[in-house]
Amino acid sequence: MTASDDQICNDDATALLRWYDAHARALPWRALPGAPPPDPYRVWLSEVMLQQTTVAAVGPYFTRFTERWPSVTDLAAADDGEVMAAWAGLGYYARARNLLACAKAVAARGGAFPDSEEGLRALPGLGAYTAAAVAAIAFGRRAVVVDANVERVVARRFAIGTTLPAARPAIRAAADKLTPEQRAGDFAQAMMDLGATICTPRSPRCLLCPLGPNCAARRQGTPEAFPVKAAKVARPVRQGRAFWIERDAAVWLVRRPGKGMLGGMRALPDDGWSARGDGSGTPPLVLDWRPAGTVSHGFTHFTLELMVLAGMTAKGDPPGEGEWWPLSALDAAGLPTLFAKAAQRALATGRDKT
Ligand code: ADE
Repeated sequence: MTASDDQICNDDATALLRWYDAHARALPWRALPGAPPPDPYRVWLSEVMLQQTTVAAVGPYFTRFTERWPSVTDLAAADDGEVMAAWAGLGYYARARNLLACAKAVAARGGAFPDSEEGLRALPGLGAYTAAAVAAIAFGRRAVVVDANVERVVARRFAIGTTLPAARPAIRAAADKLTPEQRAGDFAQAMMDLGATICTPRSPRCLLCPLGPNCAARRQGTPEAFPVKAAKVARPVRQGRAFWIERDAAVWLVRRPGKGMLGGMRALPDDGWSARGDGSGTPPLVLDWRPAGTVSHGFTHFTLELMVLAGMTAKGDPPGEGEWWPLSALDAAGLPTLFAKAAQRALATGRDKT
């Protein structure tokens, strides 16, 4: 990079921070621009949640978690099942397990998060992105923080034409050039806000963009062409069945094995779709099963079409471990989205006693 490139990148960082001072989104896990950083626990928790879903969807989860477990040591001491249930709906449940493992490791250090990217990276289940984000936002360390929004901003600013994911090293190197020594946390969050509100995937608002004057993609007139993405491949479809077993205004719920899909979560019994992928397993007991429809759910590597079969029983328990959960408190069961959808189907279908 030449001296003048360096200067241009400095100018970009300055313009972006000025923009952030005026336009930062007020979010529950954030400090105001320029203010002392927030509690590292809140930064870490929000970053892990934000890897799952949108800022809007994270809000209520973040509030619930921090009210119930106000510090990392509170979370470390929490019951695993309660944390998994509180996470229900955010998806990718391995993250909730990693969250607990990480909280326990921090509690074992006296409740203080390490204050460097390397120290954070050494915690269990804490990946490269989270380490960079927490180091920058909670500790003001210069770190190169690249999430999907930042990836888009940088790919456009430098018109990086390599297809993702091969473009990632170049995008990271370019993000490094832009990242200033000072106000690292504000800079990271400013890039995220810019990506979320101005440099949007479609119809970016380049006229309002503080990086507009030096943006190569804008100069080419094709900001939407970046980042270049590989053609989407259709996800394979798997079929399975889930069983809604009702007795005395309660439904039979099981706990999924700790490892594997939706591991450790409460669930309806199913036919083993996650292991076999062909939905050919048998129902857990002989009942007059009635079809209650099919729900479709997208996992990372496949789409599941889950047929829901509903049955009533007057006495006895299905085989294996499980619990009768009152229908009136079903919301509190913490069912992951797939089974919450299946429960909705079953409840929407008329039920007769056999
Ligand atoms: N996405 C990921 N981390 C974020 C943050 N700290 N603020 C806003 N959006 C984000």
